Amino acid sequence: MRASSALLAAALALAAAADEMEDAKRRWAESPHGPLLERILPPTFEPRDLPQAGSTGAALVRRYCVQCHNLPNPAMHNAAKWPGIVDRMVQRMQGRGNLGPLMSEMMAGVSAPTEQETRTLVAYLRRNAQRPLDPRRYPDVNRPEGEAFRVACNQCHVLPDPQRHTAAEWRAVVSRMQENMAWMNRVVGTKAVPGEPRLRVEEINAFLAKHARQ
Ligand code: HEC
Ligand code: HEC
Repeated sequence: MRASSALLAAALALAAAADEMEDAKRRWAESPHGPLLERILPPTFEPRDLPQAGSTGAALVRRYCVQCHNLPNPAMHNAAKWPGIVDRMVQRMQGRGNLGPLMSEMMAGVSAPTEQETRTLVAYLRRNAQRPLDPRRYPDVNRPEGEAFRVACNQCHVLPDPQRHTAAEWRAVVSRMQENMAWMNRVVGTKAVPGEPRLRVEEINAFLAKHARQ
């Protein structure tokens, strides 16, 4: 009984999240800046992927963090980064951010979390954050065999701890990151173009596989 009502609550929360994502997408579609906003974060992460999907923190992410862009993954950033990012986002939601004219155009209908909700959001994101790679544990990250990984994988977030995934999981993550790079307009070429940086996927996977979880 309790389990099924918890499931029902989670299903309702996901339906509400779907509505809010739809609202957000409509807002992008109507804004002349829509294409820019849609590209801020990739569409790879779904509400059902949020850790502890039934928690207050997850509900707050679904409610506030899809108003301008796709759903952020708490594991994208390490714990130390989240307070500053949330602070920047909350200022925008309150209409005090940078990108002022762009955001104020979209401000109608955008709501901001209270102080208490902001603390809950930050705690939730930190609790489910990325664990950064410790270079003392993996000194080869600074040697030639770590270069492809080091250069490509810290453009958007810190270098992740290789123990996070198995080698097979890493291959899937790395190919999703290639899609993220294309979506977010970062360096993505896998073929050598003279004078252009190239994503050396095989070398990245080899480095991660060497240190991956068994
Ligand atoms: C009022 C609009 C708005 C809302 C609401 C919003 N963001 Fe953002 N977000 C932006 C804009 C604009 C950018 C791109 C510029 C930047 O990075 O500051 C961005 C970028 C991001 C990025 C990518 C940049 C980075 O530092 O990695 C993350 C992650 C992010 N937001 C997380 C969140 C979270 C978490 C929430 C909810 C607490 C949230 N956003 C709510 C407007 C918003
Ligand atoms: C263009 C920006 C960008 C680059 C470059 C990038 N990432 Fe990510 N990364 C993201 C975003 C956005 C997320 C959250 C959404 C997601 O998980 O797809 C993320 C999340 C992650 C996560 C946490 C989620 C999980 O499934 O464990 C890991 C680990 C990760 N990235 C590893 C990498 C690796 C390895 C590389 C280098 C091949 C890389 N990233 C390069 C944007 C990027």
